[in-house]
Amino acid sequence: MRKPIIAGNWKMFKTRDEALQFILAVANKLPSKAYVDSVICSQFTVLRCLVQRQGENLRIGAQNMHFEDSGAFTGEVSGLMLKSIEVEYVIIGHSERRAMFNETDETINKKLHKAFEVGLTPILCVGEALETREANKVEEWLENQVTLDLAGLTKEQVKELVIAYEPIWAIGTGKTATADVADETCGFIRKMVEKLYDKETAEAIRIQYGGSVKTSNIDELMSKPNIDGALIGGASLKADDFVTLVNAAVK
Ligand code: 13P
Repeated sequence: MRKPIIAGNWKMFKTRDEALQFILAVANKLPSKAYVDSVICSQFTVLRCLVQRQGENLRIGAQNMHFEDSGAFTGEVSGLMLKSIEVEYVIIGHSERRAMFNETDETINKKLHKAFEVGLTPILCVGEALETREANKVEEWLENQVTLDLAGLTKEQVKELVIAYEPIWAIGTGKTATADVADETCGFIRKMVEKLYDKETAEAIRIQYGGSVKTSNIDELMSKPNIDGALIGGASLKADDFVTLVNAAVK
């Protein structure tokens, strides 16, 4: 049995005061970490204050990291630095970073290796654009992305990895993939992992769906066998909605 994981990706939202209000509002309302991993991935400046107030049922993650520990990389933050402030998760390869900040499968692969080396749990984002789905090339696309992104990772690392399947056309658009399409595609990714590693690894890895997940569609998504959780943008910004979304995973 895989433990579900519900993660909020706050993107570039929330000042310190707003982040503090959120954390106070969700305190004591999240289900036990024995049943679900609840994670908030915030921008860098509020990470430490969230870590200090997270409570026992919430984990904190970043949205990006550099693959070197330190160096002349103006404006960057390393995985080692995140670890040093007790951050536990890091999103890697989000489609917004791939599209707007020139992240490639090569740098994403380096980041995954570094995240494991320093002891962070990565949430790797993969997913296709609308043209790729319309051209019936989703499997080809994901096969390439997953193979390049996971290159060189050990079986033990991949069992700990979280993959978020986020079709680009469903992000922030209000268009959710139907639960069946999301399940089928997450199932395809699981088969890819089996092909690259083995059945045991494929059964252990947690695969989330992301893209316009909200309180009204989470139940159906979570009822699907290949969907182990969700990576949620907009709806994770509201404390009440986040609590509802996490609770949906333990029903
Ligand atoms: P929305 O939930 O706002 O569509 O964002 C999805 C996402 O990009 C999460 O990483």
